[in-house]
Amino acid sequence: MDFALLSGLVAFALIYAFAIRTAKAGGRSEVAAFCAGWVVVVFALASPLEEWADGSLTAHMAQHELLMVVAAPLLAAGHLELAIVALTPRRRRRALVWWLRMLRINMPVAWALHGTAIWAWHVPTVYQAALATPFLHAIEHMCFLGTALLFWRAALDRRLGAGAAALYVFATSLHKNVLGALLFLSPLIWYPIYGTSPAALADQQLAGLVMWVPGGVVLAVTALFLVGRWLAETERRVATRERMLASRVPRVSGAVIMVLGSALFLNACNDTRATAAALTGGDADRGREKIQQYGCWTCHTIPGIPGANATVGPPLNGIAGRSYVAGRQNSPKNLVEWIQKPQSIRSPTPMPDMGVTDTDARDIAAYLYTLK
Ligand code: HEC
Repeated sequence: MDFALLSGLVAFALIYAFAIRTAKAGGRSEVAAFCAGWVVVVFALASPLEEWADGSLTAHMAQHELLMVVAAPLLAAGHLELAIVALTPRRRRRALVWWLRMLRINMPVAWALHGTAIWAWHVPTVYQAALATPFLHAIEHMCFLGTALLFWRAALDRRLGAGAAALYVFATSLHKNVLGALLFLSPLIWYPIYGTSPAALADQQLAGLVMWVPGGVVLAVTALFLVGRWLAETERRVATRERMLASRVPRVSGAVIMVLGSALFLNACNDTRATAAALTGGDADRGREKIQQYGCWTCHTIPGIPGANATVGPPLNGIAGRSYVAGRQNSPKNLVEWIQKPQSIRSPTPMPDMGVTDTDARDIAAYLYTLK
């Protein structure tokens, strides 16, 4: 048993307890999750399993799976980052918190890092180098656990949404299954450091199986759980909407309101159209076509223009209600001028002169002024 490691883990748990108390952050379930995760780490790294892992690929693989698919999600759910922040010198903390936040909401990065760590450390030369050097071996375990923590933190973040989280967890289970299956099916010894006997090959097959089946099952079950949560979220949303429709407005008056509402809406549209036309001397419908012709949509997000969701320039929604356009007072004259020759109004500006004719510029301005 590795007493240095064990005392390090105990110290970490104490710091966590202190940090979570001062931050008043964790509820009971978070603390319980952290404790469970911590016990799994101790079992994986500081129990007889560790000694067994020295001579057996299967035991080593079991260790890795425990760290990545059991301990990591529990620790992540328990907000272990509080302890890491508490361990950081005060002046570095702000930067650390920034990084943690960036990574937490950046699932594609966390996912890719975790996947890369898994595949890279199984490359035979890398894996064997780690087995031969205790320092590299420690780094290997830190890579597995660290990237798994990032991955699970992102997966558990509510902002990601359960549906997307399920997809990422499922994608991880898929590529790990492939790696596990490759190990299991390979007739060649990948890591001769364990020996080249038939027993070593059987050990390698069993190790592949450990990654493929128990590891894969935990991930697949988690993905299913997340899908369930996603469905429940969707159902709840639909149910609330239906309840609102059913209870507040009896059917018939609902229909009447719809008809009246659409009439009012159309009327209002016509009104804005008429105003826009009066302001600019252009025609909004023609303007919409011109916007498509001139390709304004390649740089701008413009409501009502299919496919106009570019973000090179500022979005053009709500132009009618703004006080300033392109840095000058929002008047029809200024807008028309800007559309025709932005380069002579403000140089340099990234918006090019596109040779828009006067009539076309008025039509386009008319359309833009219908965007409230
Ligand atoms: C090559 C990219 C590009 C194209 C194409 C382009 N724009 Fe722009 N547009 C910009 C950029 C960038 C700005 C911000 C410029 C600035 O403020 O100096 C801008 C600013 C504007 C503004 C002012 C927005 C505000 O919030 O102040 C309007 C209006 C506008 N563009 C309309 C158009 C119209 C209409 C077209 C098509 C005729 C068009 N743009 C084509 C890049 C483009």
